[in-house]
Amino acid sequence: MTLAPENSRFSIKKPDDFHVHFRDGEMLSLVVKHTADKFARAIAMPNLIPPVTLTEQALDYKEKIIKVAGNNSFTPLMTLYLTDRTTPEEIRKAKENGITAIKYYPAGATTNSDSGVTDIKKVYSILEAMTIHNLPLLIHGEVTDPDIAEQDREKYFLENHFREMIKDFPELKMVLEHVSTKDGVDFVTQSSDKIAATCTVHHLMFTKEDLYRNGLNPHLFCKPVLKSESDRQAVVQAATSSSSKFFAGTDSAPHPRRKKEGDNPSAGIYSAYMAIECYAQIFEEAGMWNGETLENLENFLSTRGARFYGLPENQEVITLIKQPQAIPASFPIGNDQLIPLKAGKEIQWSIDAI
Ligand code: DOR
Ligand code: ZN
Repeated sequence: MTLAPENSRFSIKKPDDFHVHFRDGEMLSLVVKHTADKFARAIAMPNLIPPVTLTEQALDYKEKIIKVAGNNSFTPLMTLYLTDRTTPEEIRKAKENGITAIKYYPAGATTNSDSGVTDIKKVYSILEAMTIHNLPLLIHGEVTDPDIAEQDREKYFLENHFREMIKDFPELKMVLEHVSTKDGVDFVTQSSDKIAATCTVHHLMFTKEDLYRNGLNPHLFCKPVLKSESDRQAVVQAATSSSSKFFAGTDSAPHPRRKKEGDNPSAGIYSAYMAIECYAQIFEEAGMWNGETLENLENFLSTRGARFYGLPENQEVITLIKQPQAIPASFPIGNDQLIPLKAGKEIQWSIDAI
């Protein structure tokens, strides 16, 4: 493994986060600021309570995000939450109003997914409208069958649902969000160029052994759950490769400490605060500290996703520097706290003052 020397620095186009949860209410302003400070654009997921199912709701939410971002150069990219009752007319309206994508949660698959789709076949007319209007489908790719172990839910989704969806809608752009398995990586790699995947910090850095090290660590609990070391390596290999199909989507999903540490911990890991620095560390540890890795890091963080979504590349740059930084133990939110990934630990990279 070749590691970068101390004080190495390099500049890349400003990154985009193609999967983030900003929430609403007390949490909104802190988490939006953390993202807006470092990223140029971010796809805001719609699983609020109630979910963002209509274009007007998404536009209101966008305005709120922009207001608290306090940063004119940050652009939130909005999504609608697909339900059994979404109409083709809503899809037309969404496209007309600059909505970026539609999110598909199988009902019951994860946090706030109760209003999700009960059977994908019920929304085939919507997938048709999305194909016509070129609106990508962002997929939480896990089956919900309680008889299927958590570890296998992504794998089963690929063969039992995703394959048929691709066959029935070969022209529809679809993203396997937060790919977590070697099966997922292989499936996306072998599919057409309409199919891509986002990679989170946590699935690139941690495994189920980390999750269960001293009993379940709720701060590493997410959906899809962390997988084996060979799965992690497959995702690292995909992200650091030159494939245009894999790009950054943190799935940063904040929950108040009370909800994480209580009974039935909420699924979700908060990583937006230092995601870019962690991705740099992951690429460095992948053992290819050379021009090619750096180019792939920039592509992964800043250009592949934009190209997939047909967005212009960002013009601004950020400078990464090999300089350790300590991650805060917590952030205050109301009378509770938000515990970030790697709370109280050190990471090896920093972003030079923006
Ligand atoms: O861990 C997760 N948390 N996975 C998801 O799919 C949703 C997210 C959330 O909203 O908390
Ligand atoms: Zn998510």
